[in-house]
Amino acid sequence: MKLSLRFVLPLILVLAGIAYVVTPLVDQLTLRWFVRDIDMRSSLIANTVQEPLLELLASGRKAKIVNLFNRISKDERLYAIAYCATAKDAALLSRTLPKEIRCANLDQWEGPRDHLLLSAQGPLHVAVKAMASETAPEGRLVLVHDMKFVTLRSAETKRYVFYFFMGLAVVISLITVIIAQLSWRGWMAGVRALLRGEGLLVWQQGSEAQPKQSEFKPIARDLQRLIRELESESRTRDEGQVTWSADALRAILHGELRGEDVIVVSNREPYIHQRMDGHIEVQRPASGLVTALEPIMRACSGTWIAHGSGTADREVVDKDDRIAVPPENPAYKIRRVWLSKEEEAGYYYGFSNEGMWPLCHIAHVRPIFRSSDWEQYVAVNRKFAKAVVSEAKTKNPIVLVQDYHFALLPKMIREELPDATIITFWHIPWPNPESFAICPWRDAVLEGMLGSSILGFHTQFHCNNFVDTVDRFIEARVDRESFNVSFGGKLTAVRRYPISIAWPPEAEMVQKPVADCRSEIRQLNNLPPEHKLGVGVDRLDYTKGIMERFRAIERLLELNPEWIGRFSFVQIAAPTRTGIEEYQHHETQVREMAARINVRFGLNGPPPIVLKVQHHEPREVYEYFRASDLCFVSSLHDGMNLVAKEFVAARDDDRGVLILSQFTGAARELPESLIVNPYDADQCAAALHMALTMPADEQRDRMRLMRGLVAEFNVFRWAGRMLLDAAAMRRRSKLGERNGREER
Ligand code: G6P
Repeated sequence: MKLSLRFVLPLILVLAGIAYVVTPLVDQLTLRWFVRDIDMRSSLIANTVQEPLLELLASGRKAKIVNLFNRISKDERLYAIAYCATAKDAALLSRTLPKEIRCANLDQWEGPRDHLLLSAQGPLHVAVKAMASETAPEGRLVLVHDMKFVTLRSAETKRYVFYFFMGLAVVISLITVIIAQLSWRGWMAGVRALLRGEGLLVWQQGSEAQPKQSEFKPIARDLQRLIRELESESRTRDEGQVTWSADALRAILHGELRGEDVIVVSNREPYIHQRMDGHIEVQRPASGLVTALEPIMRACSGTWIAHGSGTADREVVDKDDRIAVPPENPAYKIRRVWLSKEEEAGYYYGFSNEGMWPLCHIAHVRPIFRSSDWEQYVAVNRKFAKAVVSEAKTKNPIVLVQDYHFALLPKMIREELPDATIITFWHIPWPNPESFAICPWRDAVLEGMLGSSILGFHTQFHCNNFVDTVDRFIEARVDRESFNVSFGGKLTAVRRYPISIAWPPEAEMVQKPVADCRSEIRQLNNLPPEHKLGVGVDRLDYTKGIMERFRAIERLLELNPEWIGRFSFVQIAAPTRTGIEEYQHHETQVREMAARINVRFGLNGPPPIVLKVQHHEPREVYEYFRASDLCFVSSLHDGMNLVAKEFVAARDDDRGVLILSQFTGAARELPESLIVNPYDADQCAAALHMALTMPADEQRDRMRLMRGLVAEFNVFRWAGRMLLDAAAMRRRSKLGERNGREER
């Protein structure tokens, strides 16, 4: 609208100016035409009356002359008529001759000059015609015409000129606005195409392939330069010179993926509605996956499809099973998928967590593969594929598929939406081909995953394992240099995207001073103020190596008995997948082991192990991190392990030591931690002793390096890098389509 006004206002002003100048000119011109007409009329009347008038003058019949004049002046326009024999005589006249006209002053209206008289009766036209004859040589006839009709017509003409210009202004404005809008849209479409790299890239290719809109040629180069600058800026960010933030991620989404249809699929939902003694409570699962994906969803108002697992989930959704979240400030929506008890048992507890989970983790727990579980897994993947198709607003959405619950989903989505960009992220490790081969449905799993456009793992090691597995078992072309797999005519890029945590951590998490955390946590656990404290935070899962951790503590107390009664280890263990027998068995073993060690070394003082099998809120966990002297992560196999990074984020005092299993993805990013083999109890005991005796300046140097890395390689970088790769892939495929079209 503003744009249209910019065109229309000057136009109206110019037209008004023209009208202002033209109207008096038109007025003068019409007046001149009327005066000329009346002059001619006067001459005609004079010629007509000349003969009878001269005859009457010759016969001296003055009364008859006056009668004649009165008759003639009945004409509508002729106001008066008179005859002056000489300048001195009184005039013979019709009744109406204005008093300003006398025989003595007739000279002023003779000749070609102005014949207008502004009398009391209004504007009049005065014409004086000589009536020369032998009998009356000096006589002059005076004809006075009423000019009121001229004034009326002039006003009318002015009105018409005004209407004319008004009409003209409206018509021109309308045409201008329509043309401006159409051109603007064309322009915007053209510039957008250039920004997306379409016209621009075609042009870059040179020779015949010129951009279609030739008017963009002058700016194409400038835009090209600008885009290169922006790309190099984001590369710089990638290289770590600028810290990635939620804002940087939002900027990428707005810049690179503006208006794109983004759908996330995960098993666990970001907000769970639970019924609690008569009221509904909204819970947020303490999941790294949720932390990582929330900023994307908030920035692009997408749809998150997940299993509706809360007891009040069904009560709060609309008729299409959707709910807008976050509840306090809705920015995107969750589409809940309902699973029956049988589906959940087969797909989630069965194939996902008794089959795929131990298969991928190689933690010496035999995977269990039941064909009934597999059937449910296929059916639930199909159910989620349907949900994706029904939620997609375009034929080429960006779909972010999360984790091992959905190995078949990428292929199923690809069949329905061939142009979708499917980014699958595998949050757990990928085993070597020999280990993976035991899965009875290995080919279907691999083919399902290869429906992805991009397939992400935490480490290069897992990418290598996946590519080796594909190479070994299915008919696909593997390019080891680019790490692209070509299967069924489609490419899958296998890439490493190490997941991380938000940086900086939420202010609330690190609000309480470290000294307060230390004293409060010790008090809470009945420990002396100077007591040394270690912490472990995990889901109560056999992959986390909790028993190996306890064994290392026992070994420390055996090898370094000076720590007996001076050191305790708090193990926070969140109950998980309690419906699975292996997890129930594991919990029993963990409890028994802690009790045994406590009996052995804690009878005369504080217990060496404080086991807390319950869910803790993130704020409480951070208090334990800040209160402790060391954190021990001893996973037997872990894709990344975010606890290690959270401990580092919590220690803004640059103190505390991290002991980290070499079998976690995090170990590759945090070499300043004390890296251990969790199966080697002596080595772990030595690391515990080293941590407990490490000088403050060494703790600070190590912690600072680790904090620098987590700050830089944070979760916004994880999401941003995947989405930038997806955006580049989309640009490339659009370019391919264009080239294909042009070749045709
Ligand atoms: C693993 C998976 C995550 C999942 C988490 C919790 O870390 O990689 O995707 O969120 O376990 O598991 P749960 O079964 O409780 O969803």
